[in-house]
Amino acid sequence: MLLFSTLALALIHRAITTSEYDSIRSTLSRYALAIDLKDFDSLDSVFTKDIVANYSEPLNVLTGIEEVKTSLEASLAPVTSVHSITTQLIDFHDDDTVSSLTYYTAAQFGTGSLEGELVSAWGRYEDELVRTLVGWRISKRQLVYMVSTAPLDSIIRFSSSFLFKGPLIGNLDIFLPQ
Ligand SMILES: *[C@@H]1O[C@H](CO)[C@@H](O)[C@H](O)[C@H]1NC(C)=O
Repeated sequence: MLLFSTLALALIHRAITTSEYDSIRSTLSRYALAIDLKDFDSLDSVFTKDIVANYSEPLNVLTGIEEVKTSLEASLAPVTSVHSITTQLIDFHDDDTVSSLTYYTAAQFGTGSLEGELVSAWGRYEDELVRTLVGWRISKRQLVYMVSTAPLDSIIRFSSSFLFKGPLIGNLDIFLPQ
């Protein structure tokens, strides 16, 4: 009898429980991995199909999962990156919807002749997430850049096709197609 209850206790202690908060954090972490591993199709496990994401300039508002995938893939094509997420608040509205605020830092590295060059960005994601049958997904995202050292009137060349006022710090040439 004693043996059985000890065994039962041991099993209880071994049971791993995943809280809703952990599930939400995993969804937010999968975003960083999808981007840094350039596995853009896995963004299906991060965003809802009808995601509306305002990435601010120069990407601005992206609507729908396909536009998010193709725009992020294209803008990051010339670089490799490391996205880290840190300071965070998660607020439940009800059982199925939450708001979260997550700081991020992104280091973006030049490739080819620009290997060794770096652009960093500091900002926060303001997200709305919904519980779906396959887990928590981001349905709305607002990206806010939190640091801008560039003078407001400085126009920085971001790619051959558009101009960009930059909150990104470093050598922006790494984003140019080579
Ligand atoms: C997108 O975000 C930027 C701030 O980062 C804001 O100025 C702009 O108005 C937003 N656009 C929309 C459509 O909400």
